[in-house]
Amino acid sequence: MKQQFKIGSLKLKNPFLLAPMLEPNDIAFRLLCKKAGASLTYTGMINPLSKQKLVLDDKPALQLFCNSTENLAEFIKKYDKKVSLWDFNLGCPSKLAKKFCHGAYLNDLDAIKQILITIRISTKKPVTIKLRKSPNALKILTIAEKYCDAIAIHPRTNAQGYSGTPDLEFAKLVKSKIGTKLPIIYSGNVNEKNAHELLKTFDFVMLGREAIGNPNIFAKLTNKKIRVNFKDYIKLAIKYKLPFRQIKYQAMSFTKGMKKAKVVRREIVHAKTIEDIKEIYKL
Ligand SMILES: Cc1cc2nc3c(=O)[nH]c(=O)nc-3n(C[C@H](O)[C@H](O)[C@H](O)COP(=O)(O)O)c2cc1C
Repeated sequence: MKQQFKIGSLKLKNPFLLAPMLEPNDIAFRLLCKKAGASLTYTGMINPLSKQKLVLDDKPALQLFCNSTENLAEFIKKYDKKVSLWDFNLGCPSKLAKKFCHGAYLNDLDAIKQILITIRISTKKPVTIKLRKSPNALKILTIAEKYCDAIAIHPRTNAQGYSGTPDLEFAKLVKSKIGTKLPIIYSGNVNEKNAHELLKTFDFVMLGREAIGNPNIFAKLTNKKIRVNFKDYIKLAIKYKLPFRQIKYQAMSFTKGMKKAKVVRREIVHAKTIEDIKEIYKL
């Protein structure tokens, strides 16, 4: 029987997701990851009070970042048709998150509950949360299981940030606690070598840093013949009128794995226009 990949009512083609990442996940990059084979792409975290114009042509999982319900229902109403699901960030370890008690620093269980209730009643789309390893994580889960359709776990502590070994045993504990009720999405150092093994334990895996500058990781994982490249990125970036600094950032990222990456990066540093970048990439 063919395996089904479902988050709530959302049917996905495979278990490989692009992890939420603030800087890399612009609309052009997300579309490339989808084309390469990612079944679902996440936006980076977005505050519902943000006035930023969102382009959601990849029908992403939109990740919310807040510590109250202010403007939450209104924000969801505005974008609900354009997203595949709503995710709530409870894992950001940044200084800013600390300062404003957001992400992994939001420890107020009642606030978390109110936010999840507001999301739940504002949409018929699936709702998920993304958590880190913390003493509070298991308490949060007992709330989340009432309102969510899946849980994403990145089993590093705040102190670890993005380095050090993710605690696989902690993620397995999450799976054993609520994995019979909800699908569990695993995040943390997923790559081409370990993804299939992790899927023996978890329902989905998210690829973060491994996918930066390397959307073809999804083609490899899904055995697709298709390959995308930086030329495809530039075309989309121009179509969506992305700012030059973002294109330059991605130009740097796409040097990953190149033989002369160091030389090319040195040239990109001096690029001032899209034409400069095209010339460096010989496009
Ligand atoms: C540049 C960057 C930006 C990130 N931004 C977000 C974010 O906005 N929201 C979030 O939940 N996680 C964010 N993360 C964390 C990733 O989603 C992921 O959980 C983490 O990087 C571990 O997975 P990896 O080892 O596959 O990168 C970010 C990570 C990176 C490297």
